[in-house]
Amino acid sequence: MKWLIIAVAKGRLEDEVKKILAQAGLGNVIDSDSRKLIFEDDKNRIRYLVVKPVDVATYVESGVADLGFVGKDVLLEQEKDVYELMDLEFGKCIFAAAGFPNTLIDKGEEPLRIATKYPNITTNYFQDRQKIELIYLNGSVELAPIVGLSDIIVDLVETGSTLKANGLVILEEMMTISARVISNRVSYRFQHDRIQQFLDEVKKGKMVYAGNSIN
Ligand code: PRP
Repeated sequence: MKWLIIAVAKGRLEDEVKKILAQAGLGNVIDSDSRKLIFEDDKNRIRYLVVKPVDVATYVESGVADLGFVGKDVLLEQEKDVYELMDLEFGKCIFAAAGFPNTLIDKGEEPLRIATKYPNITTNYFQDRQKIELIYLNGSVELAPIVGLSDIIVDLVETGSTLKANGLVILEEMMTISARVISNRVSYRFQHDRIQQFLDEVKKGKMVYAGNSIN
């Protein structure tokens, strides 16, 4: 049987993906403590590539990976040519505009300075509403309004603790985000049955996992 290659986003989503795979009986081969980047499940002929979240769709779009587990935030930002096959309904976060309390988002003619790791999402969201000046950062964006680099930030909020620790609040909720399974377009066509079987197993694992978390 041909290997099914799956890119998994390391970090935030990794543990939950591993739990779902384990519940689905798909083995527990990804060792997050290891520096290895490829893990093989010989029994099921699945090879996992553990990569940065922003790189998952690149591996899948190119066909190096058939499938990927990644956050919807990354998909919205990158607009890669891949199929989105399943909402895993975990890793839920919101996209929010955040800043100091009472900061005005609508500033009329004056541009609103926004620091973010998500320039496309931010531009799309504000384009018909408010002139903006984007300040692209790679992380720790909460710092920007504190030091006067920006008026607000656009970022993911999960628990809200990073905002709180820095004296910031949500000014506006933009959209809800969760983890998704994506597929390479060619793989989906030519390995359709195999991918469908994998998705069915993941769906089972997801249901068992959701049940366990409730109990
Ligand atoms: C994300 C996000 C926020 C934080 C939100 O950053 O960009 O900073 O997590 O999570 P919370 O609401 O649970 O506090 P990440 O941890 O990925 O690191 P980064 O800031 O370096 O991008």
